[in-house]
Amino acid sequence: MPHTKLIQAALAAREQSIAPYSKFNVGAALLAASGEIISGANVESASYGLSCCAERVALFKALTDESKSRRDFTAIAIASPGGAAPCGACRQLLAEYAGKVEVILIDSESPENSTVTTMDILLPNAFTGDDFPEV
Ligand code: THU
Repeated sequence: MPHTKLIQAALAAREQSIAPYSKFNVGAALLAASGEIISGANVESASYGLSCCAERVALFKALTDESKSRRDFTAIAIASPGGAAPCGACRQLLAEYAGKVEVILIDSESPENSTVTTMDILLPNAFTGDDFPEV
């Protein structure tokens, strides 16, 4: 599937990135099974460690939306200079809440060059909480 609309959404979300410190602007767009697209961009803080990646902004927006249809995801497109792969923290959260997604990495400098991977490749043997004891 070409995912042209999803890629456009990630590139558009990137325009909303607030990254005055790193100047590394990232946009992410999640595709829900319902067909809805939920996007986000990275937001940085003067207290650098508080910054949040585009992937988590998009994921948290989707998960906390009133519409429950936005909690089952089939793909995520991520746009950044060079087409960076998600950081470790985002991999953990995506594995937990969007473990079956196709991950499309887009180089914002040449968006026609995108690569596709999966959460199993990015975070094999993920800890998802499935091993928690029954309560
Ligand atoms: N960043 C993302 O938004 N997503 C990634 O996949 C990698 C890193 C952000 C965090 C920070 O605002 C900036 O990029 C530099 O690390």
